[in-house]
Amino acid sequence: MDQPETIPLSRPTFGEEELDALREVLDSGWVAGQGPRGRLLEEAFAELCGVPAVAVANCTAALHLALLGFDIGPGDEVLVADYTYPATGHSVLYTGATPRFVDVRPDTWTIDVDAAAAAIGPRTVGIVAVDTLGQCADLGPLGELAARHGIFLVEDAACSVGATYRGQPSGSLADVACFSLHARKGITSGEGGMLVSPDPERVERARRLSCFGVESAHARQAADGLPVPVFEALGYNYKLSDIQAAVALVQLGRLPDLLAARRRVAAAYLERLADVPGVRLPVVGEERDHTWQTFALTLDPGVSRGAVATELRSVGVQVNIGTFASHRQPVYGPQEPLPVSAGLFERHLAVPMHANLTETDVDRVVDAVRTALARSV
Ligand SMILES: Cc1ncc(COP(=O)(O)O)c(C=O)c1O
Repeated sequence: MDQPETIPLSRPTFGEEELDALREVLDSGWVAGQGPRGRLLEEAFAELCGVPAVAVANCTAALHLALLGFDIGPGDEVLVADYTYPATGHSVLYTGATPRFVDVRPDTWTIDVDAAAAAIGPRTVGIVAVDTLGQCADLGPLGELAARHGIFLVEDAACSVGATYRGQPSGSLADVACFSLHARKGITSGEGGMLVSPDPERVERARRLSCFGVESAHARQAADGLPVPVFEALGYNYKLSDIQAAVALVQLGRLPDLLAARRRVAAAYLERLADVPGVRLPVVGEERDHTWQTFALTLDPGVSRGAVATELRSVGVQVNIGTFASHRQPVYGPQEPLPVSAGLFERHLAVPMHANLTETDVDRVVDAVRTALARSV
């Protein structure tokens, strides 16, 4: 019997518009970073989030620049949501500061605000909250906590372009927020990132630091005379190319449709997997809209995740873990145990979630999960 086509965990949505945009940017003569397409993308993100934006190479670079903007370094401690891709913790290490991981809520998997409050000590300079798998953290209480202690709040919004919290767009409620345009995110340019902040000076400083600490070549082109840049601060080459910006601009235009498609898939999974034994379904927290970057099932402790994964793969359904328990990664050295995050790391199983899934795909995933769980419980 023919093996059915594999349903990928994730797949970007591209079409003629992206191809047209690529042709245009290649013909335009400007394909490096911080060019006209980058500017247009920044304006479009600023409109989406209601705060100024700068385009950068990826979300990790955005997080690094965000933290550099608070002048942190060795001796400083930053509270970091534990259940996340390790880019979050790495960005703190890049500055020389120390990440102190904080456990997450068992329902939304976002940083536990009470645990964060309890972890604040004399060396704490800020908090990096993560919009876990596309759902905003408790940005209201976190902002209040940060303000009360005079520390910063950075939102790792890698997975949450288009999410909302209390009706406000993700990216608008922290001192700085960082988005990812990586291939597995809701909109993508292959790789890419965006830093946004209500403080325009913070954004401009990040812009310079993303371009070796100087004004971009494109901006200098427009100046009178022949201005020669002076390298005062240690900057980085974290620019997003205009080729990527051109693709990202088209993708941003597609955002409402792509989000709606993911939300339809999520609604179908939530309805049709509700009665499957051995599995808990994701919960959307109060007053927020999810982007469903990932749809993760939480398997009961008695269920073998490896066996379920093998069975699903054998029928052409790709799966993966949810994300990582940072405190369990050796790069960060010995850490206190964080049981909620550790449990999610061990028991999450991500199933296909993207905007190209058809009803037939969803039927196949639902049937395959039901069958695999029936055998494993
Ligand atoms: C929560 C989180 N933060 C940061 C990153 C890093 O994003 P990028 O690949 O754009 O650097 C990711 C990527 O998966 C992520 O999920």
